[in-house]
Amino acid sequence: MSTRVLTGITTSGTLHLGNYVGALRPAIAASQAPDVESFFFMADYHALIKCDDPDRVEASRMQIAATWLAAGLDTQRALLFRQSDVPEVCELTWLLTCVTAKGQMNRAHAYKAAVDAAVAAGEEPDSNVTMGLYSYPILMAADILLYNAHRVPVGKDQVQHIEMARDVAQRFNHLYGQDFFVLPEAEVEAEMELLPGLDGRKMSKSYDNVVPLFEGGAEALRNAVAKIVTDSRGPGEPKEPEGTALIQIFDAFATPTERAQMRAELRAGLAWGEAKQRLVAQIEKELGPMRARYAELMADPERIEAELQRGAERARAIARPLLARLREAVGLRRSRVLPGQAAADVPKAVPPLVKQYREADGRFHVKLTQGDAVLALSPGFESGREGAQWLTALKQGGAGAVSLAEAGDPGALEAALTALRQQDAERERAKARKA
Ligand code: TRP
Repeated sequence: MSTRVLTGITTSGTLHLGNYVGALRPAIAASQAPDVESFFFMADYHALIKCDDPDRVEASRMQIAATWLAAGLDTQRALLFRQSDVPEVCELTWLLTCVTAKGQMNRAHAYKAAVDAAVAAGEEPDSNVTMGLYSYPILMAADILLYNAHRVPVGKDQVQHIEMARDVAQRFNHLYGQDFFVLPEAEVEAEMELLPGLDGRKMSKSYDNVVPLFEGGAEALRNAVAKIVTDSRGPGEPKEPEGTALIQIFDAFATPTERAQMRAELRAGLAWGEAKQRLVAQIEKELGPMRARYAELMADPERIEAELQRGAERARAIARPLLARLREAVGLRRSRVLPGQAAADVPKAVPPLVKQYREADGRFHVKLTQGDAVLALSPGFESGREGAQWLTALKQGGAGAVSLAEAGDPGALEAALTALRQQDAERERAKARKA
């Protein structure tokens, strides 16, 4: 099976060069690997936690989607979608909320930071804390677990959230006795090492030291670069490039040869102003064509919308069967005659039936029916043994675990699988009694 890699970006603003170098570019490169299935989404439910300006949320969702597309994400392979177009994530959040210890949420960094700030300002500890902020890590766990992502590339500040997702996944799996969830791994890459901003500190909106990515055009890029802090050495004086913000940003867009050359020229006295112009040209080589695509996309919202709707459909095709399985597991089931309560005068419910058969072409099929309804039909197999393996996988992992030639109502299918599992368990017990 391929590795699933998932990346989410909160849609409460626009992206800067640090986001591009640290997250977008490596994620898009990684999504081109043959054995990788990538999930990219706009975390717009998360945006509501810190932003109550609807126009800003709207703009940010579109801008970030257009940014992914303009930066070259191949949506034939990777999934690109908005978190809120997959409402299953809210339902999963609730199921996870019910097995998450409050004490664990008390330890979340973002929550603790809000409490510390309030206390420092002489306010009640929780005065600035909404339940959204408090439960932020659970929604994030749902984002990851809903797609059974194996790897989640994140910055250091998010590692704790991935650990919380692992914890809650483990607790749920244990409590309900099946491996519903893959335990995700945080991936903190060297490239996530933070790009410095104009003043040499980490590039971040909160320090007001960012170079914008596309917004504001080439002019905004030039203006930002002009503000990069340098020392006061004048033209002709030798300069030490190592460790400067300018050279670190330059490196992120340059080949090893270009890096060496820029260093040599600065040491030979290249003026900072001249160096900044070269930096702009260097960045522009990579970003210029992307910015043009970005502008085209922003002028064509229907195209963005079509991409996102398609992404959401693909995401929901994965989310729905998992949710059906989870609802069944926790007991949110269709009405049925309860085990041990079947009175003689209650008409017996039609039990689900498994049929294995061979088509005229010689291929083996497995079909699960209930009454007239086909609940699941396997693809054709070379051997009966493969058919049996398919059935085992379906029973263990639900509809999401197998390929289906035909699928019925997901709720009915899960209910039937529960019944089959109970039959199997009953048969095992009978065997054990005889032995
Ligand atoms: N919390 C992340 C951030 O602020 C965004 C995010 C939301 C996310 N859900 C996610 C990242 C799931 C990775 C996986 O950067």
